[in-house]
Amino acid sequence: MLTDMTAVVTGGSRGIGRAVVERLCRDGASVVFNYATHEAAADEVVRAVQADGGKVRALRLDLKEPEGAERLMEAAEEHLGGLDILVNNAAMSFTPAPLAETDVELFDSVMAVNARSVFLTTRYAARRMRDGGRIVNISTLNTVRPAPGIGPYAASKGAIEQLTAVAARELGPRGITVNAVSPGATDTELLHGTNPPQALQAVVGMTPLGRLGQPSDVADVVAFLAGPDGRWITGQNLRATGGLT
Ligand SMILES: NC(=O)c1ccc[n+]([C@@H]2O[C@H](COP(=O)([O-])OP(=O)(O)OC[C@H]3O[C@@H](n4cnc5c(N)ncnc54)[C@H](OP(=O)(O)O)[C@@H]3O)[C@@H](O)[C@H]2O)c1
Repeated sequence: MLTDMTAVVTGGSRGIGRAVVERLCRDGASVVFNYATHEAAADEVVRAVQADGGKVRALRLDLKEPEGAERLMEAAEEHLGGLDILVNNAAMSFTPAPLAETDVELFDSVMAVNARSVFLTTRYAARRMRDGGRIVNISTLNTVRPAPGIGPYAASKGAIEQLTAVAARELGPRGITVNAVSPGATDTELLHGTNPPQALQAVVGMTPLGRLGQPSDVADVVAFLAGPDGRWITGQNLRATGGLT
């Protein structure tokens, strides 16, 4: 249980982030999450959590903005009164394209949302998180199973896996664990927006558990790492993929 714990989740309005917000709130944490543009989706998450008796607040903050991640952490800390759990989940989706056709503006935007924000929230947590805290960074199976067309995405996720390893070493002496969770294909708008149905059928065919992941499949792994049972795990990358390697 996470009673009396506080948590920040990036990108909590939809998909895996929403499932993480809902699970942490169900476990008793007070949660602040941000989103970029989908206000109605964020409001719906807040309504659903509150109807269930949970404590949650949504903030509209674009992580592409240089100040976005720090403003989120400051606002969250002020609202929550302290920081115990940080889940870096937000990622920018884009139409896959070969490197030869990828412009520098797209690369910079993806790195800003998916990687720079993780650096900034983790730096903030390194300064302000309570001892014994938890950081979970959502990576992807694509760092070991790269696909053509996702160069900026794979680069950003490789970067956060390295930040995870370094932060685990730096924050371990304070009892703060830092881990990555790498989902495989998970049934969200990001997945369907970037993969044709035939490609997803092929992935299901290669997956030992024989289906797409659901956001809750990933959220439950995050909750394990964020909770008391995850206390002896740090610097790891848990692959939540239904067995796809
Ligand atoms: N789905 C998969 O198959 C899969 C597989 C491996 C890894 N992952 C990882 O899992 C995480 C969640 O993915 P998902 O599939 O749940 O994505 P999603 O459904 O597209 O949701 C993305 C979330 O991130 C937020 N976000 C996007 N750009 C943002 C920005 N510039 N500033 C602030 N927030 C922003 C979105 O807010 P808005 O609602 O306002 O847009 C939304 O809450 C990502 O890190 C992704 O890389 C997903």
